[in-house]
Amino acid sequence: LHIPTLIGRKRDGEHLPASEIRALIDGYVCGEVPDYQMSAFAMAVFFKGMNAGETAALTQAMLDSGDVFEHPQGHPPVVDKHSTGGIGDKVSLPLAPLVACTGVWVPMVSGRGLGITGGTLDKLESIPGFKVNISLADAEKQLADIGVVMMGQTERFCPADKKLYSLRDVSGTVPSIPLITASIMSKKLAESLDKLVLDVKFGSGAFMKTEKDAQKLADSMIAVGKEMGVEVHAILNPMHEPLGRSVGNALEVIESIECLEGGGPEDLRRLVLDLAEKISPASRNELEALLNDGTARKKFDEIVRAHGANPDDLPRLAEIHKAPVIREYPSPDTGTIVAVDAGLVGQAALQLGAGRARATDAVNFAVGFDQIVKCGESVHQGRPLCRIHAENMIDFDMAEALLDKAFKIEP
Ligand code: URA
Repeated sequence: LHIPTLIGRKRDGEHLPASEIRALIDGYVCGEVPDYQMSAFAMAVFFKGMNAGETAALTQAMLDSGDVFEHPQGHPPVVDKHSTGGIGDKVSLPLAPLVACTGVWVPMVSGRGLGITGGTLDKLESIPGFKVNISLADAEKQLADIGVVMMGQTERFCPADKKLYSLRDVSGTVPSIPLITASIMSKKLAESLDKLVLDVKFGSGAFMKTEKDAQKLADSMIAVGKEMGVEVHAILNPMHEPLGRSVGNALEVIESIECLEGGGPEDLRRLVLDLAEKISPASRNELEALLNDGTARKKFDEIVRAHGANPDDLPRLAEIHKAPVIREYPSPDTGTIVAVDAGLVGQAALQLGAGRARATDAVNFAVGFDQIVKCGESVHQGRPLCRIHAENMIDFDMAEALLDKAFKIEP
């Protein structure tokens, strides 16, 4: 297969046969196709798209690039949720332990930060010692022991997505329906699921800017799930303002723990319950009780321990990851908040170092925003709209300039 010709054919809008898509993915995973050719191909797909057959072939090739979970006979129902990515979207952290308390297994395979959105793996790694790169054998054992695992792609498990995901993150090729579909569905199918719920976001802080495009993305993922025999539910959710009141790695873990203790922001709790309801045998009232009575919180401690970290560190996360600069961002006016542009808040978080500019960059766990006001709330001139956590004053000033455009206040 002559890769430059293949890239050129996609660039010119041709539909590629499954055999060529498979050869490309296999070549990429074994290192024969270099990153520069793969990023050119991803950009060609971004502009020219893929039809349903090509998208299914890409998903299958990515799925076949690695091992898959093999659940033992008589296993409980295996379920999961995945988000297409948002700002402050920390839902996986409370949801996985919560759902695992209800007699089902949750083998959650997540990603790192992507574009302006944060990633579950980066957030989990802000818990000192938390290992997300575990072998499939260890993951299967953990699933049998505690009913839940929260892990990343490895060299053996979803290797195609592992490489392509970080390449897309830094090459401007994330917001493509076929690429997102194959990325998400190859991971989810490798979990050998019975049921999946997808949180499909639209708005300034999402990869799909309109509800119509989000519906197209949902349809694309549902079609692939159907072909592979998995029950897939999709819920479309707006991502115009950040979810909850915190954005940033450790800051979002802190907020997730509040949710697991029956508190936290209302919108976060509601979305966790909306999604959990779709995949859990428990009723909404039962799920609420598991959050309120500390059962889900205890399950999170079990997860933390199983992944090599110490649950005693959880209440100390704010101290462990204390940014050198923590300052309030004052409101310029008195009135009501009518918009908190999630896209701008996400960009500001990237400027602070919460995400990556190059695939090899480390993320800064401490930086981000907390105590963010929500749409509909009253604010007073000089009173804080949020707090900014920054590494230094240069980053602080850059983030502040973006926030100046993000908050809209009406008298
Ligand atoms: N989440 C993923 O796992 N992949 C994407 O491409 C987007 C969101």
